[in-house]
Amino acid sequence: MAGSGRDGSFNQRLADCAATLASAQGAEVTSIRLEDFDLPIYSHRLETTAFPESARRLKALFVEQDAILIASPEYNGSVSGLLKNAIDWASRPTDGEGPLALSAFRGKVAGILSASPGPYGGLRGLMHLRQILGTVQMLVVPEQAAVPFADRAFDGAALTDPVAAQVLPLLVQRVIKTAGSLK
Ligand code: FNR
Repeated sequence: MAGSGRDGSFNQRLADCAATLASAQGAEVTSIRLEDFDLPIYSHRLETTAFPESARRLKALFVEQDAILIASPEYNGSVSGLLKNAIDWASRPTDGEGPLALSAFRGKVAGILSASPGPYGGLRGLMHLRQILGTVQMLVVPEQAAVPFADRAFDGAALTDPVAAQVLPLLVQRVIKTAGSLK
């Protein structure tokens, strides 16, 4: 998934490249668009009175995965509100018992990516994302890819940045292997 719902999002393109690689490496991939869930802003009042169906659906989808690949835009040195809000909702307990009772993320593997038209590729946001995902008890693999000058890093859907194009398959491979070893 990408942490951006922008039309023409570079991070969506990066997420799509990662999904294609993961499929090619034998993973069963579910691609989602966070904006489609139309999540309300997290609120304790909503959580305790009427846990939103959209948040429950998103959480159930995360629960089904062994690993999650996230391409995260950098907003003011951090992650986007869209992504943080989704993580916040899915980290909350839902039902009293069963698979949704706890955080959706605990013990799952994460691979993190970013793309930015700027020179750092969203690297500062990735540092925050790594910390957030560690807090929700995900195992974030050490490889990561931050794609700078993203407006020049793709040819259509294909990632042409030479460094990122080398790192991305390794990152995806590490995520798949790590998730497989934890099963
Ligand atoms: C940005 N952008 C940005 N870029 C960056 O490299 N570092 C930053 O701190 C920020 N901050 C920031 C804040 C806000 C509110 C917006 C809307 C944008 C620019 C950002 O990287 C650019 O819009 C990307 O194109 C966003 O990713 P998507 O939507 O292309 O995936």
